[in-house]
Amino acid sequence: MKEFTNDVKNILGLQLPTDPRWVNLAELELEEILTDHAYCEQKAATTCISLIQRYPHRVEMVEELAPIVTEEWGHFRSVLAELKKRKLKLGKQRKDVYVNKLLEFQRKGGHPEDRFLDQLLTMALIEARSCERFKRLSEGLNDDYMRKFYRKFMESEAGHYTLFINLAELYLPKDKVRKRWKEWLQYEKELMDSAEIRGDRIH
Ligand SMILES: [Fe+2]
Ligand SMILES: [Fe+2]
Repeated sequence: MKEFTNDVKNILGLQLPTDPRWVNLAELELEEILTDHAYCEQKAATTCISLIQRYPHRVEMVEELAPIVTEEWGHFRSVLAELKKRKLKLGKQRKDVYVNKLLEFQRKGGHPEDRFLDQLLTMALIEARSCERFKRLSEGLNDDYMRKFYRKFMESEAGHYTLFINLAELYLPKDKVRKRWKEWLQYEKELMDSAEIRGDRIH
């Protein structure tokens, strides 16, 4: 499989690029992909809310995440509006295999700081992969309008990915964050490598 060019790798850190066939499959299932995307945005908003609820004493984090909740909810509304415009329906929420597999990698016991770090890095990873997927859509779709539509999401999620990494480095030693981030990237690479390519899923 084609490797990332170095600049993309540096931006996202991801070890395995999305299979190029995915965009063509996604294009054929617009209603499905928009529905899945809508729920991804919803989950991003609710996860930020639950981080605020769990760690209210992390003042900087609360201040940074409060506007992200609004932004992610705005993304959800944009996708919802797009579905409506196209007379498509928001389907039911589906099992999110990708996110569930990531959650399995989070440390459940041990030091609370390690669990906190994993929660931030899970978010960073989901944002990074989403950003990469939106990049693929913004470059590979045939429809010019939809390419621009996804470009906006790509830019926004790129900012979120860096925010979560920065927050991790604010609260935890940098070398600890780097080491664990590498383990996450390796885990995600294996996950992507073994996952089925589905045109009805963002991840
Ligand atoms: Fe978003
Ligand atoms: Fe995001």
